Amino acid sequence: MAKNTLSFVCQNCGAAYNRWQGKCESCGEWNTLAEEDTSGSVPVSIRSKRKGRTFALESLAGKSPDAPRLSSGMTELDRVTGGGFVRGSVLLVGGDPGIGKSTLLTQATSMMARAGHRIVYISGEEAVAQVRLRAERLGLSDAPVQLAAETSVEDIVSTLSEGAVPRLIVIDSIQTMWTDTVESAPGTVTQVRASAQALIRFAKKTGAAIILVGHVTKDGQIAGPRVVEHMVDAVLSFEGEGSQQFRILRAVKNRFGPTDEIGVFEMTGLGLREVTNPSELFLSERDLGTPGTAVFAGIEGTRPVLVELQALVAPTSLGTPRRAVVGWDQSRLSMVLAVLEAHCGVKLSGHDVYLNVAGGLRIHEPAADMAAAAALVSSLVNAQLPTDAVYFGEISLSGVIRPVAQTPARLKEAVKLGFKRAVLPESARGDAGGDAGLSLNAVNSLTTLVAEIAAKGSRRGEQSASAEKNATPARFRRGEG
Ligand code: TYD
Ligand code: MG
Repeated sequence: MAKNTLSFVCQNCGAAYNRWQGKCESCGEWNTLAEEDTSGSVPVSIRSKRKGRTFALESLAGKSPDAPRLSSGMTELDRVTGGGFVRGSVLLVGGDPGIGKSTLLTQATSMMARAGHRIVYISGEEAVAQVRLRAERLGLSDAPVQLAAETSVEDIVSTLSEGAVPRLIVIDSIQTMWTDTVESAPGTVTQVRASAQALIRFAKKTGAAIILVGHVTKDGQIAGPRVVEHMVDAVLSFEGEGSQQFRILRAVKNRFGPTDEIGVFEMTGLGLREVTNPSELFLSERDLGTPGTAVFAGIEGTRPVLVELQALVAPTSLGTPRRAVVGWDQSRLSMVLAVLEAHCGVKLSGHDVYLNVAGGLRIHEPAADMAAAAALVSSLVNAQLPTDAVYFGEISLSGVIRPVAQTPARLKEAVKLGFKRAVLPESARGDAGGDAGLSLNAVNSLTTLVAEIAAKGSRRGEQSASAEKNATPARFRRGEG
């Protein structure tokens, strides 16, 4: 007799439980457990009787058919995938709804189809007419992409098994797909996982590359494509602030390429435009006249990117001051604040601190420490930093400025964008070479940097206090006289 295999599966992380509970102990999310039949397609009785098939074992040195890559025709997309889509690989493109995943893939598939490849676009979300409308808006109606609005994985696999093997198949989105082999409703973790498995099997068997689109919602209501992440070869995340035009494509995982590359796009009325020089874009709306901003000379993958860090340090009456950060690591900010307090005598416990990376970029490099510290101190003492300077360097817990990789690339980009000076770690001066056109200010400790900035400004809020202090003796004198 078949065993009862109903269990409660977390729709966020896929953990299974025998009983319902409010909180998933695996990922800590609340109210994400749903009842599902996890028995899979094959009844237990048959499964146990099936005799194992034998297969040949191979050597590591053996020759595999080459893994040629299919270029997408978009430089920024190729940069993130590591040079194009690998035959038989499966890639997940995740992102918030409305960020532009369908737009990006419509553009890329059209380009590849125009280059003469068989490309199939399966839309599970939109009707064929809607997809056509988008293509028309993008001026890509003439591209020979093969289009269908389907959601049954079995039907899709049967259809695609006929004729020439497609070079690339886009499944938009994996959450809308369903397979007969499991009984759960479409969109549940079990369905998403089984559908993805069937499609991955198809890709490996035929050599077609598959792109799965996955919506990520913050509250975990829709089955998170996170359960698919470890099944696929690469995971790309498409990010951006809703209010801004910039979109950043980032490789979160990549079996065939680097994971630190980013592709930068701009959403326009005519679809996504590739941004080949992101620094120019991120610095285009710089506010030159205000204290609290510093330009960070960063590296994203192989490419230098200059971006503005904005800080606001303001006195607070709250017992626990606010620490808010956008585009950078919260714990990294806490560390920089702690070092400023402990080693540089900068008292911030009575101040709210806000830090923002302009342009919607997310920075992961520790090299941003020095730029962040400079922006914070600049805001605190109300002193504007030189507008023609870039900053980079990692801060250690002892307050020493540590060297970072790729100093020459950072400096070269700064020169290219018209900057005149660089504030960098003392120990990186050697790497800088004789780079003409930049005056180098090498600092070895955070204390030096703070002293240099503080010399130019006065503490916000203490300005009036010190003015009063100076005035007091004069009043006394008048009173005496
Ligand atoms: P879409 O690709 O449908 O997002 P996703 O597939 O990630 O859900 O893009 C939706 C948004 O993009 C929508 O708000 C409109 C905007 N958009 C443009 O601004 N310009 C365009 O040319 C297109 C096609 C979309
Ligand atoms: Mg879409």
